[in-house]
Amino acid sequence: MDSAYAFDLMPLDTPDDSPEWAEYLDIFRFSFLDNRATPEGVATYREHRRKDQAVLARITTEGPGLDGREAVAGFAAAPTTINCGRGLVDALVINTIAVRPSHRRRGLLKQMMRAQLDAARERGISLATLTASEATIYGRFGFGIATHTHPIHVDTRRLVFRPDIPVASGSVEYVHPSFLKDHWHRLVTEHQARYRGAVGHLHGHYLTDTGQWDPSENGHARSLRCVVHFSEEGEVDGFALFTPQGWHDSPITTKVRKVCAEDQAVNRALWKAMAEMDMVERLTYPLSPPGDPLAASLVDPWAVQPKEGDDPVWLRILDLPSAVAQRQFDGDSEGDVIVEIVDSMGYCEGRWRMHAKDGQGTAERVDAAADVKLSVDVLAQMWHGDRTASELALSGLLDGEPAAIGRLSRLFQVDEPPMNLATF
Ligand SMILES: CC(C)(COP(=O)(O)OP(=O)(O)OC[C@H]1O[C@@H](n2cnc3c(N)ncnc32)[C@H](O)[C@@H]1OP(=O)(O)O)[C@@H](O)C(=O)NCCC(=O)NCCS
Repeated sequence: MDSAYAFDLMPLDTPDDSPEWAEYLDIFRFSFLDNRATPEGVATYREHRRKDQAVLARITTEGPGLDGREAVAGFAAAPTTINCGRGLVDALVINTIAVRPSHRRRGLLKQMMRAQLDAARERGISLATLTASEATIYGRFGFGIATHTHPIHVDTRRLVFRPDIPVASGSVEYVHPSFLKDHWHRLVTEHQARYRGAVGHLHGHYLTDTGQWDPSENGHARSLRCVVHFSEEGEVDGFALFTPQGWHDSPITTKVRKVCAEDQAVNRALWKAMAEMDMVERLTYPLSPPGDPLAASLVDPWAVQPKEGDDPVWLRILDLPSAVAQRQFDGDSEGDVIVEIVDSMGYCEGRWRMHAKDGQGTAERVDAAADVKLSVDVLAQMWHGDRTASELALSGLLDGEPAAIGRLSRLFQVDEPPMNLATF
């Protein structure tokens, strides 16, 4: 990186009235083709970044057209957790990255990525995660797609559950999203603890899910609606958020934003409630996971139509022995494969004996010849079971004898596909 540039972290206790907050936020708003934030928007950003204990990296420079030293690149990240099958694992979530167009392709992203990932690893964090605006950017930094999600369209008239499938008893009620304030943390945490691949929610999710903030409305959400499910004991055990799209266009459509319950029978009750709303002909939902359980539970599975356009979660393994130790290995049999991992950033580079027994895995450095060679981003694609080693080998991504690749597939096999409700 050119010496005219300087990397630093914007402190979270930067005074509220400092123009640096608006300047920092605008790096992202400009690059994502948004308007400048209102003062309320800046205040909301400040609040949720502080609550998240975010790490606000930036690169400043000076020169013609700049007002003294100005930030021209930003990389905001925060501590989070990911369900890797045996409890929640500490991770770094990368929220937003942008470099002003006049300073692109000079290595600023590369510098900020290295600084943030090095610091996370020094803090003992073994995984990093992000969602991407373009699929071509992050593979070079060792990120691979670990959880696909795809939008679905649901024909409400055909949303009828098979008679042998339980739909939770109890009741539903349509409430203002602010009703969730007392229940939201418990419900999203229960969901995350139940499903492998689920990433922790941030304070920004709390503000938007409870209707306190809608970036597109620059204030309280007026369009957001909420339905909650109550167990027979009267406890709130799930919620769904949705935005009706009016009743003038055909088919009459409601956008479902989130369906959150630990128990799939409660999820089904929430889908049933939304499908039974008068006039609504179609429900759309962007967060359908691989192997979405909804379609298979219907009398007519074709009521659920997958649509184009993935919104995947990307994963980066920073510390292999620690990440392996924190991952649940579901296979019954004992497994042992020597892998050679290619990692251009160096974190996981080398040969490792991957071993698992009774659900517990280990990764140890070895000198022995490798059975299978793969890049660290390919390992990330197998991490939550979204893809198997054998599937990825068909795309030419692993090098090794089919029997060894099969052993690696079985070592990483998972019982349930991953699910995630937190987009970031
Ligand atoms: C994407 C973005 C952050 C890249 O920043 P940058 O400072 O220009 O990136 P760097 O100069 O550090 O590039 C690092 C490497 O990534 C590559 N790269 C950068 N942007 C890329 C893109 N959009 N697609 C493919 N490769 C890209 C560079 O060619 C370079 O490759 P090399 O190491 O082989 O030389 C910047 O273009 C941007 O702000 N875009 C708009 C907002 C955005 O898309 N942010 C990402 C949101 S998830």
